[in-house]
Amino acid sequence: MKAWIARKQASIEEKPMEFTNLPTPIPKGDEIRIKISACGICRTDLHIVEGDLPLKKSPIVPGHEVVGVVDEVGDKVKRFKSGDKVGVSWLHSTCRRCKYCLSGRENYCPEYKCTGWHVNGGFAEYMTIREDFALSLQGVDMDPEDIAPLLCPGVAGYLSFKLASVKEGDKLGLYGFGPTAYYVLKVANYLGIECYVSTRSKHNIESARREGAVWANDTMNAKMPERLDAAILFPPAGKLVEPTLSQVNQGGRVILAAVDMSLIEINDYSNNLWGRDIFTLYNVKHSESEEFLRLATKIGITIDIKVFPFEKLQDAMIQLKQRKIKEPNVVIKMPTPEG
Ligand SMILES: NC(=O)c1ccc[n+]([C@@H]2O[C@H](COP(=O)([O-])OP(=O)(O)OC[C@H]3O[C@@H](n4cnc5c(N)ncnc54)[C@H](OP(=O)(O)O)[C@@H]3O)[C@@H](O)[C@H]2O)c1
Ligand SMILES: [Zn+2]
Ligand SMILES: [Zn+2]
Repeated sequence: MKAWIARKQASIEEKPMEFTNLPTPIPKGDEIRIKISACGICRTDLHIVEGDLPLKKSPIVPGHEVVGVVDEVGDKVKRFKSGDKVGVSWLHSTCRRCKYCLSGRENYCPEYKCTGWHVNGGFAEYMTIREDFALSLQGVDMDPEDIAPLLCPGVAGYLSFKLASVKEGDKLGLYGFGPTAYYVLKVANYLGIECYVSTRSKHNIESARREGAVWANDTMNAKMPERLDAAILFPPAGKLVEPTLSQVNQGGRVILAAVDMSLIEINDYSNNLWGRDIFTLYNVKHSESEEFLRLATKIGITIDIKVFPFEKLQDAMIQLKQRKIKEPNVVIKMPTPEG
């Protein structure tokens, strides 16, 4: 099969990815093989290729927003059959035995394996995954390239939203308005939760207002008009944690969504932290991911995407890094049999 691999880490402008031939994987036991139709490109893929994250396997096929169709199954597969539409997210597998796996908190499993980091992912014609960890896309009536971004920013946003524990009528603050926050806004609106968005760029302020935020502005320049029941902080900027906490009512939560964070300082514990809880978003979970896909289909969530052909992956990654793409999500599309 054709695949893009990273063998050594280097700046993407040096074109470290190789377009090559690999043996087509054969599904064993409870594994399914997916013929890939589309795969989103995420900043995490850039971090893996460029060396901000260590290589867990070399060579590796990155890509963790995978949409495709089951084309072969192992002899123990029960859930899927050839022809079923499936997706794969960052979660490739966990041990299924530890206390976290057995209590529905597999995101904390010490043996958590990530798609396109520990195991080959979606920048290829085929990949395999154990059936329990594949996401069913039956009934998700969208084009593969539109589904792809639901599988990373979509499911991560949804999990951060669930952690915020807000209900109809509550006020939710969203700090930063990238693709992840966009999905939270869509779900929150649908469930009758008011969203207040703080983001810096004019473009993001306008897009948050257009997409249904009750209020959107930059809280560095304009005061948040209401106190909040919960807030989700998306940028990895530790200096924003205390101001965000200060805006949340006692009994509320602040969710830190970032995977890394600059120094966090709390100077006024009594006024700004006491009575609020801080949660972090740590990996995605299978059950919530499938729940989100059902909900996204019901709501009809779509987001702007820029599509590149499979062979142009490396160019797409360069343009993504250099912020030359105006659409919030970038997806590669595999050639169809007709060409
Ligand atoms: N834990 C997980 O499993 C997981 C999975 C996916 C994503 N994430 C995290 O979720 C976050 C959002 O990711 P994303 O891809 O949706 O968005 P993103 O492109 O990383 O941007 C986040 C937004 O925050 C704003 N921002 C950035 N730096 C800021 C700062 N210093 N002060 C104020 N605002 C700032 C930016 O908007 P303005 O420029 O308009 O302010 C931007 O739109 C990231 O931190 C990512 O690591 C976590
Ligand atoms: Zn991602
Ligand atoms: Zn486990």
